[in-house]
Amino acid sequence: MFVSIVLSALIAQPVFAQEADKVKNQEAYIDGLIERMTLEEKAGQLTTYGDEIRLLNPDINPDVNRRKGEDLIKEVRAGRVGSLFNGRGVKGGRLAQSAALQSRLKIPLLFGADVIHGYRTVFPVPLAEAASFEPQLAERTARVTAIEATAAGLHWNFAPMVDIARDQRWGRVVEGSGEDVYLGKLFAAARVRGYQGENLANEDSMLATPKHFAAYGAVSGGMDYNTVDISPQTLREVHLPPFKAAFDAGALSTMSSFNEINGVPASANRELLTDILRGEWGFKGFVVSDYTADMELIAHGYAANEREATKLAFLAGVDMSMQSGFYIKHLPALVKAGEVPMAALDDSVRRVLRLKAALGLFDNPYRSLDSEREAADIGKPEHRALARDAARRSIVLLRNVNDVLPLNKTSKIALIGPFAEDRHHLHGPWTLFADAKEAITVAAGIRAALADASQLEIVQGSNVEKPIKGGIDAAVEAANRADVVVLAIGEIHEMSGEAQSRTDIVVPAAQQVLAEAIAATGKPMIVLLRNGRALALQGAVRDADAILVTWFLGSEMGNGIADVLFGDYNPSGHLPVSFPLESGQQPYYYNHKSTGRPFIRGEAPEFKARYREAPNEALYSFGHGLSYSKFKYDPVKLSSKRMAWDGSITVSTRITNTSSRAGEEVAQLYVRDRVASSTRPVRELKGFKKIRLDPGQSEQVSFTLTRADLQFVGADLQWIAEPGAFDVWIAPSSVQGTRESFELERAK
Ligand code: NOJ
Repeated sequence: MFVSIVLSALIAQPVFAQEADKVKNQEAYIDGLIERMTLEEKAGQLTTYGDEIRLLNPDINPDVNRRKGEDLIKEVRAGRVGSLFNGRGVKGGRLAQSAALQSRLKIPLLFGADVIHGYRTVFPVPLAEAASFEPQLAERTARVTAIEATAAGLHWNFAPMVDIARDQRWGRVVEGSGEDVYLGKLFAAARVRGYQGENLANEDSMLATPKHFAAYGAVSGGMDYNTVDISPQTLREVHLPPFKAAFDAGALSTMSSFNEINGVPASANRELLTDILRGEWGFKGFVVSDYTADMELIAHGYAANEREATKLAFLAGVDMSMQSGFYIKHLPALVKAGEVPMAALDDSVRRVLRLKAALGLFDNPYRSLDSEREAADIGKPEHRALARDAARRSIVLLRNVNDVLPLNKTSKIALIGPFAEDRHHLHGPWTLFADAKEAITVAAGIRAALADASQLEIVQGSNVEKPIKGGIDAAVEAANRADVVVLAIGEIHEMSGEAQSRTDIVVPAAQQVLAEAIAATGKPMIVLLRNGRALALQGAVRDADAILVTWFLGSEMGNGIADVLFGDYNPSGHLPVSFPLESGQQPYYYNHKSTGRPFIRGEAPEFKARYREAPNEALYSFGHGLSYSKFKYDPVKLSSKRMAWDGSITVSTRITNTSSRAGEEVAQLYVRDRVASSTRPVRELKGFKKIRLDPGQSEQVSFTLTRADLQFVGADLQWIAEPGAFDVWIAPSSVQGTRESFELERAK
């Protein structure tokens, strides 16, 4: 069997003699194919199209669809397509695959898709899940995602999205793990492990595609698709590490991004796609362009026409073209004209065929196309149970004045707001395959938890962006009748995701007016924020008695929220993105530089780095998150005040649960390099531990630091550490904690 063999070839590990033979056979088989392939067939393997054979919505324009499907089948039979994406279903998959097996060389199709946070069982959006600070949770939800998606006939996932997002205006913040590099690396690797499982050849494993390579999160002004202009140091220090972590975890494909970087579009950027990716990192997998990103080289003003765009993308290192059809159209002629070397074409084809083999497709072209598995493995009860656990673990308690939460199950509750009964914005912006009808609304979750469902009164109060006539009066009346108001407000899913950047990251005005009216009743007010990014909270929303960040939590959103509201689950999430004071602070991130005139609270603010309207601080900084328990941190202790150049030190503290409730806390390790040849951030996360403590229980939490944790990208673009003074904290957020310091000694 090819699989383990090909994998060994791909990751170039030593193999036993017998396996070495298999690798040779495998390689010989692929070489044999390549020798027999026509130029067109080669370009076909490097072409992927949206799956019009098994459409997501076949009932819209059925005649047109049928024709498109038939045309595509002809292309597949002619060997002019190597892969299809974003279709689903075993029946259509078998049909498409049988067409590929009728092609001259019978090379099976690869079925790709965006299964970003669940197939039919929808887990929290990736940003939400990052708030759990539990990469192992992301690994489990990714595993289930792969189990369901492969049961529906898919092999290749266009995930995880690992772009670091430091500007909350950018809509795609929702798809990644937030603003921090360390957290982003751990979640990137965990998701790759989850999708790919133990062995790519297993029928329930999916090839992972960390995307978008690279620096897409750095788009200027947070506007999607916009220009990226950043230093090579920031590129390497902030944006590339999560990709490297994903590749180290075994990911064998990646997607080139839409943006340009310093004048060169990423999808024609040889330095990125070849020099760094293959040269420095030894990546053995293949690169697919983002959707028509090769075509877009023309609009970028980087290529004059289709032919040139094809040549530039291909020669830069994009192995496979998504959707434009440029490769099948232009690569054969470019090779014939001697403008693209045949050897380069063969290398790209070989990369794709090796992955098809690694997935076991040559052995079993109908892998993951089994209707029994399709019926059995999708939407299982245990998947829903995991979705509920993931939902509640992703919720962040920002504020809880006078311990107004958790609520009593016998309270009289007024559930108010456009998201109270909504079922269209539970999943989030990136679910192609799930059915909104199957998700649990906030109202349903709360109702199921209450001792007596008649304790719950529901009033919409306002639309998302427009008032409802009489809505506020009805909401105020309900509030007056209740013991407590739960206000479900925030963003619809169309406000985040691709092409959904915002200039003003606030709760829409109509809902803000509703919140002000409810607050004026004087009833305790709990805000449930629905959001795909950090928001700038204002007025009554900001000042509510309690605020829960509930993002888009997926299939079990309502139940997850109810678990937290009533204390059946004690919240343990922490922010993966900083909530700013004002929208105009963007891009705001906790690990910013000091500036020459840092604003220091308590000191005169004039001529300091701040805005007229607000200091350069967050309302809730990265890492913040409360619990119903209370935790006390002892001052941080060091095993030594000096770290030898090749040595290590231990940083520790004792954390005590001083409350009467068991709970979980995320202890975060931050470091600051005080003086360096390149200025360093005011703090950087270097480790964290999520611990569970019973009432009164204490635990010693320790981290080991070595020189590797103190490195940065120097002027020559190499990772270096410099001797000198470092500050260190173990803290419940990026702006708290007691500080210690130590010295990194010179090399002896
Ligand atoms: C465009 C998006 O940028 C990318 O993330 C996605 O994978 C492709 N479309 C395919 O749907």
